[in-house]
Amino acid sequence: MVSSYDMGYSSSSRSRMDPRGWTRKIWLIVVSVIIVIAVIIIGAVVGVAATRNNGGTNSSYPNYSKLNYTLLDTYSGQSFFDKFEYFSTYDPAGGFVHYVNPEYALTNNLTYATASTALVRVDTKVGPGSVPDASTGRFSVRLESKTQYGPGLFLFDVKHTPYGCATWPALWLADPNNWPANGEIDLMEAVNKATTGGLVALHTTADCSMSDIRREMSGAAGQGDCHNATNSNTGCTVTGAPASYGPEFNAAGGGVVALEWRDEGIRVGGAAAAAPDPSSWGPPLADFPSTNCDMASHFRNQSIIVNIDLCGYLTEAVWAKSGCGSSTCTDFVANNPSAFADAYWEFGAFQVFKSK
Ligand SMILES: *[C@@H]1O[C@H](CO)[C@@H](O)[C@H](O)[C@H]1NC(C)=O
Ligand SMILES: *[C@@H]1O[C@H](CO)[C@@H](O)[C@H](O)[C@H]1NC(C)=O
Ligand SMILES: *[C@@H]1O[C@H](CO)[C@@H](O)[C@H](O)[C@H]1NC(C)=O
Ligand SMILES: *[C@@H]1O[C@H](CO)[C@@H](O)[C@H](O)[C@H]1NC(C)=O
Ligand SMILES: *[C@@H]1O[C@H](CO)[C@@H](O)[C@H](O)[C@H]1NC(C)=O
Repeated sequence: MVSSYDMGYSSSSRSRMDPRGWTRKIWLIVVSVIIVIAVIIIGAVVGVAATRNNGGTNSSYPNYSKLNYTLLDTYSGQSFFDKFEYFSTYDPAGGFVHYVNPEYALTNNLTYATASTALVRVDTKVGPGSVPDASTGRFSVRLESKTQYGPGLFLFDVKHTPYGCATWPALWLADPNNWPANGEIDLMEAVNKATTGGLVALHTTADCSMSDIRREMSGAAGQGDCHNATNSNTGCTVTGAPASYGPEFNAAGGGVVALEWRDEGIRVGGAAAAAPDPSSWGPPLADFPSTNCDMASHFRNQSIIVNIDLCGYLTEAVWAKSGCGSSTCTDFVANNPSAFADAYWEFGAFQVFKSK
């Protein structure tokens, strides 16, 4: 094709630019050239569209073929909380909160388990006249699983997500004593009224990026660099639809949140069926492929963490625009115990599966 194109024009004279004088051979060459150009343009348009669908220009993508998972651990029923440590020292996230010990939580019903459900909540009783009052922070809970996990499939039956002004709840995994060296995986996170969708994020050391790579997911990608030192530890983020967290998620009855963590990547989304087989569930909410992030060296020894922080840097950063009134975030927390009535997690079981 290219050589006949060259031949046709190398021998062309000015008169040949007039179509009426063209021979059948030149007509064939011109038509062929038009077809070739059309094919190239269509190919480029389709290629760009396909790349956009996948959110990047690099077409390499890990093979997330089905793994066979077997059940390793279950958190459920009245012993749900036995598998957790109650983190009850100074909040590393700078929140206006006092995380309580298991005795306080039990006595004051901040953690509560039945055969089918486990509740984790913020105090709703302590007001300005109480002793102690909440003028240095409100009582809340932060749980960290005693077991630390490697790669696997994690299913979290979430019946109610906490929300409300001044709250910063999260369901996440991390190795708090080796952070960010062993990575952090945030599954559900939101602040204040939580009407704009849940945040999914990874936080790592250097050399783990999700920028300009192919990803298969329904959520909206935010910052691509997972390195904790980028933009004050923003992490690599994906935001879900409003129904992925908060009032909308709760009104729909909640759902099972799945994390598949494997050498090929980390994916977070709703589990579409009880069978532990993500290959049958369709695109996840968030996809963090291993394309430019070695999973084994960035993620290790992860504890499951459930907490409800109050104020703190993420909440404060958007407080002025949150529609939560004109007081400061900390004044709001100190003086409005009843505002935290919806600030509770309600869970069914957590299940952890291991492949092979
Ligand atoms: C992905 O891996 C599976 C299992 O090893 C294999 O059967 C399949 O052909 C691979 N798919 C691709 C696209 O390489
Ligand atoms: C999963 O189990 C099936 C059935 O036993 C087997 O054929 C398949 O090879 C296994 N896949 C992996 C990745 O081990
Ligand atoms: C603790 O909370 C549960 C669930 O909201 C409730 O049913 C129970 O009565 C509470 N217990 C006490 C002692 O307040
Ligand atoms: C990021 O992690 C490093 C340790 O690797 C730490 O020194 C630094 O303070 C962290 N930065 C932020 C913003 O979290
Ligand atoms: C992970 O935890 C195990 C068991 O506690 C420990 O031996 C190992 O050093 C830890 N690995 C890293 C990289 O922190």
